[in-house]
Amino acid sequence: MLKKFVAPALCAAILAAAPAKAQDKPVAEASSPGGVVKVALFLDNDGRVSYTVERRGKKIVAPSRLGFLFTDARKIERGIGFVSAEQRDFDETWEQPWGEWRRIRNHYRELKVHFRETTALARVMDVTFRLYDDGVGFRYEFPDQPNLKAANIADELTEFAFAQDGTAWWKPAFLWNREEYLYNKTPLSAVGTADTPVTIKFADGSYAALHEAALVDYAGMAVARTEGNRLRAALTPGAGRPKVIKSGAWSTPWRTLILADDAPGVYMSHLMLNLNEPNKLGDMSWFKPGKFVGVWWNMIKGDWTWARGPKHGATNANVRRYIDFAAANKIPNVLVEGWNIGWDGDWFGNGNDMNFAQPTEDFDAAALAAYAKSKGVRLIGHHETGGAASHYENQFDAAFRFAADHGEMVVKTGYVTDAGQIERVDADGTRLREWHEGQWMSNHHVRVLQAAAKYRVAIDSHEPIKGTGLQRTYPNWVAREGSRGMEYNAWGGKNPPEHETNLVFTRMLEGPMDFTPGVLSLTGQNGSAILSTEAKQLALYVVLYSPVVMAADTPENYAKHLNAFQFIKDVPTDWEETRMLNGEPGDYVTIARKERGGEAWYLGAIGDEQARSLDVALDFLTPGKTYLAQIYRDGDDATYETEKRHSIAIETRRVTSSDRLTLKLAPGGGQAIRFVPMGKK
Ligand code: NOJ
Ligand code: CA
Repeated sequence: MLKKFVAPALCAAILAAAPAKAQDKPVAEASSPGGVVKVALFLDNDGRVSYTVERRGKKIVAPSRLGFLFTDARKIERGIGFVSAEQRDFDETWEQPWGEWRRIRNHYRELKVHFRETTALARVMDVTFRLYDDGVGFRYEFPDQPNLKAANIADELTEFAFAQDGTAWWKPAFLWNREEYLYNKTPLSAVGTADTPVTIKFADGSYAALHEAALVDYAGMAVARTEGNRLRAALTPGAGRPKVIKSGAWSTPWRTLILADDAPGVYMSHLMLNLNEPNKLGDMSWFKPGKFVGVWWNMIKGDWTWARGPKHGATNANVRRYIDFAAANKIPNVLVEGWNIGWDGDWFGNGNDMNFAQPTEDFDAAALAAYAKSKGVRLIGHHETGGAASHYENQFDAAFRFAADHGEMVVKTGYVTDAGQIERVDADGTRLREWHEGQWMSNHHVRVLQAAAKYRVAIDSHEPIKGTGLQRTYPNWVAREGSRGMEYNAWGGKNPPEHETNLVFTRMLEGPMDFTPGVLSLTGQNGSAILSTEAKQLALYVVLYSPVVMAADTPENYAKHLNAFQFIKDVPTDWEETRMLNGEPGDYVTIARKERGGEAWYLGAIGDEQARSLDVALDFLTPGKTYLAQIYRDGDDATYETEKRHSIAIETRRVTSSDRLTLKLAPGGGQAIRFVPMGKK
């Protein structure tokens, strides 16, 4: 009645002021296999779709909208009708070629809901939810259809309206330094525009982590708070074009929410890996997880240079010394940076001079590769693109052939340029500036993996796109940076003591990080102090997972800390099983891991700037076995604030699975333990 007599503009105003009420009865709903997590979908009177999520009967996500804005077509948000829904169950256990766990159970119930616009366009939109007992993932799926032949996406309207306030750990999105910002800890209701994962502790003490899985051929999703506890997807920009361009049938990455009683429960979830496609590369036995040293820290500190000249790091003499050191300490890989032509002059943000098949005159690649081989060591290659990603693609074949010909099993890549400054050159010569997390880069990284896989080369990407579990599909994506690593401890503005405890519950949810721990000298540029104890550097080998882990300090510095260095020599980088024994973001965390192919366990505990005492049960050890615990702990007087950061106590104890240990962490401290079985009792 009313509508008939009001002018259209006024009518719109009235509708906006009184938002259409979602109908109380869901059009579809489903629960996870164990009944822990429940999802429901609703349509309001205007035909807008929303979803809710409950955990153990408690609302986690209040009604949150779904939809899309296009640059050249009407948005998909209103005027949607329900068509049908179907469910199916899935349960399988698969094996990781390398990882924190060998076996992963993938047990979910799937709810697929079909919607169609009730307007003339009649576009079809399916939404598929996968419900796990520890969370939920959902994605949009669009069949090929006449009125959505090409989708030019301006933004995704997906919301995450949390039912409670809480504390959030997050870092800002879309700023010049890409993913390399310190974490903010704020009320959820004060989050700005954030990269994912965003980790949340709700007022009731339970935890959630919001992220995405299987980011391929799509723009990375940040989230922006619109009001209260309501976040909305904010896709990474395209280069002056729609954020995402699709045609035919297409789907989005999975939008994921891990849900748990506590912070360790969030870390222990396999939801992200499970939402990725199985291994597409086949046999991965050629990739051997392991540690590496490298011609690196001296460049980061500014004592050597990547560029040619009197301080050039990648010389034959230096590399031979590092190979000798690696061989003597059973470290299987040696990274060399600055070995190739292209670093001279202004390489930052400009990698068009980089040639990944042409070494400098003082780096005899063939002789060094042969020397390394004779010592049972491999070189790790380095492709710093300076952000010139197309220039890199043009040399893929030559670059990876060169790497394989020189025995390299891993290549570290780099995209050093400010956000939004990746250089893309299309076949027709069009030059565009892309974002590290944009749709084009999501495809670039897959092209790198495919090109490298042909030559049996694994990739460790720096300044990467975020990790979304694609290592399941492309297991040669063995590591990446994607947050502030050790390198910040060389410079001014060092990582604060709590940084790594933040990483564990945010960045590490994305998968392996090439953090480069183990700077036992605890000094950066000009002798400046790193805000850590020596024992914490050891604990990081257990706490921050990567199948390729650097011993980042120099051979000369390790020679001064041989007792502590023993733990770095011993610790493996591939695990049968992982348990998180305790942890709170930004405060402390303890992780125990069992080596693959052996019986030893390793424990790492790290804290923040406060001294702490953590009581842990050793019930992860095999009952009935006695273990020798080789303990590397903070000395009683240790603190990151003074030279006492070097105070470390190394001792042994016999323990069994029924023992408990009190881990005393100094301010900025940590503890590392190796448990070696002493034989059957
Ligand atoms: C930044 C990387 O994180 C660092 O490891 C590398 O040495 C430099 N870029 C140069 O490629
Ligand atoms: Ca970096």
